[in-house]
Amino acid sequence: MTDPPTLDMDRLKEFVEHVYGFLEGGVVSGMIYLGDRLGLYQALRDAGPVTSEQLAQRTGLHERWVREWLRCQAGAKLVAYLGDGRFALSVEAGLVLAEENSPAFAAGGFHSLPQQFAVLERLPEAFKTGRGLPYDAFGPEGAVGIERFLAPWFRTFLVPLVLPALDGVVPKLERGAQVADVGCGAGVALLEMARAYPRSAFHGYDISVHALERAAANQAAAGVSNVTFHDARHDPLPADGRFDLVTSFDCIHDMTHPDAVMRAVRQALKADGTWVIADINAKPTFEENLERNPVVAMMYGMSVLSCMSSALSEPGGAGLGTLGFSEPLAREMTAAAGFTRFRRHHFDNPVNAYYEVRP
Ligand SMILES: C[S@@+](CC[C@H](N)C(=O)[O-])C[C@H]1O[C@@H](n2cnc3c(N)ncnc32)[C@H](O)[C@@H]1O
Repeated sequence: MTDPPTLDMDRLKEFVEHVYGFLEGGVVSGMIYLGDRLGLYQALRDAGPVTSEQLAQRTGLHERWVREWLRCQAGAKLVAYLGDGRFALSVEAGLVLAEENSPAFAAGGFHSLPQQFAVLERLPEAFKTGRGLPYDAFGPEGAVGIERFLAPWFRTFLVPLVLPALDGVVPKLERGAQVADVGCGAGVALLEMARAYPRSAFHGYDISVHALERAAANQAAAGVSNVTFHDARHDPLPADGRFDLVTSFDCIHDMTHPDAVMRAVRQALKADGTWVIADINAKPTFEENLERNPVVAMMYGMSVLSCMSSALSEPGGAGLGTLGFSEPLAREMTAAAGFTRFRRHHFDNPVNAYYEVRP
């Protein structure tokens, strides 16, 4: 017989602090959302050291609210407090919180926080029925949030780094190729490629009405004409081997039936075509993810909020989830769909693994 566990008061205190740390993180996340939405970070970056009065004046906001927000930011060490009521954003914080085009920009990840937390009201039902919510449950702002979260890396690295690393793809794009992005979301990656390769034709496929609306708006703003977006539910990928290149960024693990999509991609690709899959750099087992992923709790939490939920949003959904599509599974599933070549690339992306898959 082992002794029953005893209550250790120090451990209890530590654990209470640990738990409140998550509440603090949640609340500060909400404040980052407000700073991003109200343009406070940009104003701070542009102004240099300021008082709350000066920042309120620059942004046209009420000083008392700005002061409380600044004090929270200083407490969270996001904004530096310089004394005498003056606050400043460091160069690094400016890149992460205020510079939308920096590859380090992270404030976009907070864009749809209200919509993500709002679905918490609907998730108890999902736990009971097993049925999740598609991406459209987050509304139009959900699509913008994903776009702002993922776009910085695509804008900086997709065309100069990823495409040239693929076997024979850039010469085809230069000459004029047929390209599809499956799970294209708001179309940022596709528009980047379309701008770089005007002789090629680009097709985006998604099932989210909000993402496709956003994609159409982004296309109009970019003034790019060699892109067509398709609602994959009514206008699926053609099964006639016409594409030279298919891309899928951060979406296989979200799909209800990734195996069927893989077979469709195989049929849509030319015999010498290429499929690039970027997906979360997940380890094959929960134990490895737990040990080696520094943001493992955030990943599994995002899975419940959106990725796994989306992947279970139809009957019989695979439910892979955020950390559910590891390299061994990617190899196994693509082989089962009829692909014979599989190569992993290392692009120093902090989140994604890149796979070059060929018939
Ligand atoms: C996390 S988002 C990524 C969007 C985009 N690739 C990006 O990087 O911004 C996942 C996308 O996959 C889409 N999706 C899920 N299942 C799909 C399917 N069967 N066919 C096409 N798109 C799908 C969702 O609607 C959502 O827009």
